[in-house]
Amino acid sequence: MTAPKPPAACLIGWPAAHSRSPLIHHYWLRTLGIEGGYVIEAVPPDDLRDFVLRLSLRGFVGANVTIPHKVGVLELSAPDARAKAVGAANTLWFEDGELRATNTDVEGFLGNLDASAPDWDKAGEALVLGAGGASRAVVFGLRERGFKRIHLANRTLARAEALAAEFGPNVQPLAWDGINEVLPRAKLLVNTTSLGMHGQGVLEVDVARLPQEAVVADLVYVPLVTPLLAAAAARGLKTADGLGMLLHQAVRGFELWFGQRPEVTAELRALVEADLTKT
Ligand code: ATR
Repeated sequence: MTAPKPPAACLIGWPAAHSRSPLIHHYWLRTLGIEGGYVIEAVPPDDLRDFVLRLSLRGFVGANVTIPHKVGVLELSAPDARAKAVGAANTLWFEDGELRATNTDVEGFLGNLDASAPDWDKAGEALVLGAGGASRAVVFGLRERGFKRIHLANRTLARAEALAAEFGPNVQPLAWDGINEVLPRAKLLVNTTSLGMHGQGVLEVDVARLPQEAVVADLVYVPLVTPLLAAAAARGLKTADGLGMLLHQAVRGFELWFGQRPEVTAELRALVEADLTKT
């Protein structure tokens, strides 16, 4: 008699991109003493349907999904409210035999702020920069937490208007040159654009205009401390960084696949930081 194989999850992408997910999940498997696996699977677009429909037959208890498959998996699974609202899924798991999909960027964003700046969601208006896929997850999360006014600024105003229209009157589109006017009222500032990332443009936001109790979050994690976060910290504001969100978004998938909710520890953070600075 052969012993049952330990549960394994995979990351579905194309091409097989370098990812920190194996490092994160192997760390949790090891430290929690769970026998299991996490592997990268390069799946070309033409094979996605077959791969996902046979996920269980291939021996997987679930998967992460990355570029270019985050939208394609929605029609191959039963997406939850977060995946539907964001219009993209990054995590698949089985529930009562059914393949479900969710978007853990929402939980990653919220969990990171809860850990970095407790009570960040207690009051006030939020200002979100950017109106792409990442912004959708952020705005959805802020609405879940009851934010009544979310200003959505984007270089291309039409994109902010389209996203705001989907989310209803609590989300107000804002022209890029209107940012300065809103900053003094923003208790939370979130950068979801690529500005501030290595090799990208500079994000020109005057954090001196924010109220003293404001919290600043940046989704960019290369560099770990973006110019925006450095300026906010220098002013004594609380900050939440992109690496924290990356780590927190992995929590839910692990819990769904392996049955235990893992912790984002300082040791895990140091491990991933070392990997990021090595490349
Ligand atoms: P993601 O899924 O990571 O959000 P995306 O959908 O490509 O990626 O969105 C990128 C965001 O960064 C957009 O809000 C984009 O603004 P536009 O909609 O006007 O393109 C924003 N962005 C990228 N480069 C920018 C720049 N130089 N100045 C201002 N915003 C920029």
